[in-house]
Amino acid sequence: MTGPAPATILVQPAGGADLDSVMAIMTQAFDPRFGEAWTRPQCAGILPMYGVSMMLASLGDTPVGFSLSRTVAGESELLLLGVAPDWRARGIGTALVDSFIAHSRQSGARFLHLEVRDGNSALGLYRRAGFRLVGRRHNYYRGTDGQQFDALTMALDV
Ligand SMILES: CC(C)(COP(=O)(O)OP(=O)(O)OC[C@H]1O[C@@H](n2cnc3c(N)ncnc32)[C@H](O)[C@@H]1OP(=O)(O)O)[C@@H](O)C(=O)NCCC(=O)NCCS
Repeated sequence: MTGPAPATILVQPAGGADLDSVMAIMTQAFDPRFGEAWTRPQCAGILPMYGVSMMLASLGDTPVGFSLSRTVAGESELLLLGVAPDWRARGIGTALVDSFIAHSRQSGARFLHLEVRDGNSALGLYRRAGFRLVGRRHNYYRGTDGQQFDALTMALDV
């Protein structure tokens, strides 16, 4: 017996026309306790800036994840990464990080970096992609309940 082939993860460059999809994922993906989600005006405002890239991951016709990054002067920063909760643990986050690395290289970056809250489940994903810990800012993030978290800076030479 044969069933439908599993949908492959498609990661494609996105733009202003994709902001509805990105914001729908953003709203679900980020825990409001940490205030890490960006607003629509913040996203719309950064999109036209030099070196900014947004990527949308889809399974079939369904947008399921996105990344936002910026490449300037040989350095690339992963600003945001989010996957809708219903679609996690299928490799979508990994596909988005892989596409960030590939796109950054193509754009001339040789040094990639990102900042992540200590304890974030994304840490394992970043480590597996080759990012190493290069900095720690103590108690940089404060949750809505007052709990403080370190900010970790991770970097990768490509
Ligand atoms: C972090 C985040 C992007 C990961 O997305 P994801 O699509 O679940 O990522 P992946 O599926 O590639 O990897 C997640 C885990 O599933 C595992 N996995 C991947 N494919 C899998 C599969 N087919 N079957 C089972 N497990 C799988 C990975 O090994 C990984 O394991 P880990 O938790 O031990 O690291 C997502 O959890 C998220 O949106 N979090 C909230 C936003 C956030 O904090 N973003 C990061 C800071 S900006």
